[in-house]
Amino acid sequence: MPVAELRLERVRCFEWGEVDFDGAPAILSGTNGSGKSTILEAIYLLARGRSFRTPHPGQLIRRGCQAFGVEATVPAETSTRAIRLVYDQKLNLSIDRQMATFREVGEILPLTLMDAEIAQIVTGGPEQRRKLLDWLMFHVEPDGWGQWKQYRRALRQWQWAVRTGMDGAIWLERMLDGAPVIESARKRLIESCLPFWNEAFGSLFPGARVDLEYRPGSPPGMNLVEALVGWRPERAERPLAPGPHRAEIGIMIEGVSARQVLSRGQAKLLAIGLMWGGALFLAESLKNRPLLLIDDFSSELDSAAQNRLLHLLAREPLQVVVTTVHAPRKEETPRQFRRFHVEQGFIRASPSW
Ligand SMILES: Nc1ncnc2c1ncn2[C@@H]1O[C@H](COP(=O)(O)OP(=O)(O)OP(=O)(O)O)[C@@H](O)[C@H]1O
Ligand SMILES: [Mg+2]
Repeated sequence: MPVAELRLERVRCFEWGEVDFDGAPAILSGTNGSGKSTILEAIYLLARGRSFRTPHPGQLIRRGCQAFGVEATVPAETSTRAIRLVYDQKLNLSIDRQMATFREVGEILPLTLMDAEIAQIVTGGPEQRRKLLDWLMFHVEPDGWGQWKQYRRALRQWQWAVRTGMDGAIWLERMLDGAPVIESARKRLIESCLPFWNEAFGSLFPGARVDLEYRPGSPPGMNLVEALVGWRPERAERPLAPGPHRAEIGIMIEGVSARQVLSRGQAKLLAIGLMWGGALFLAESLKNRPLLLIDDFSSELDSAAQNRLLHLLAREPLQVVVTTVHAPRKEETPRQFRRFHVEQGFIRASPSW
């Protein structure tokens, strides 16, 4: 569901602040330290129960105060729901004044955050791209997700058994049971997301050929049973056992690995395109409207790239909130965007048109 209004009380630099998103995409601009990321942090905390900057929610309390509060109104089908979080020694969460859990809020407000490190989905190691798969699998492939959690636990136990010379057969069996379920869930996900990803790449990289392929964690033709049974940690040439924990998504531009050819700005665009496509797929699968928070969206991007990105992000059915130090010019901002200026703890709506 989209967020209509957001209120902050005594959160970091804000004594009191209100943003009327009205469910629309929004751009928050302002100088360094004005409070832009704090607004995203407050939304993130409300939906996830933790901050992306600190494990200690108490740090968000405005200096000299005792507690803080965040509230969002979310229009649902029949009524508007009020989600409220108060931190006073501990987090107290409610929906329409009834105590609630973050799982319940997470269902109403599925969201994801992209920060300055977002390009790592493209430039970083395979684990970065597995995180993308995990995010999608968590929401739409509960069986695959459950198996993946069990698989990772069994893998740790099995590796420990191999290292210490114990019998790890029971763990190996669990891994072998789970592996095909995980692999097929991931393949389904990638296949379902491909049309959305292609749409994103078509808008962000017009004319370029971008291909994505799922690479299972064991080489083609390799029998996972034999490979795992024959695995020994001391073999330098095989430091990690094969399996779904080594799988990844290969991203190719004109047939060459994206991480080898893309500039930093291009990698950032591609990474945001991947998240955008995934969110669009979730919107369709969950019949909900995911919220994308993009902190410092304009860094590394020239104005043409920013412009292409904003036009992509303005599309239904997602709600995006982006922050930037320099606001794009009004005439270059898609009409759907609401614009807000943040100034040392004050939020002011700027005319959009
Ligand atoms: N507990 C607190 N109480 C009061 N002020 C705080 C507290 N914690 C952080 N601040 C201040 O609040 C401001 C919030 O910074 P925030 O990270 O939201 O800024 P920003 O607009 O995202 O800046 P940038 O463009 O540099 O990323 C900073 O000036 C910071 O020093
Ligand atoms: Mg910031």
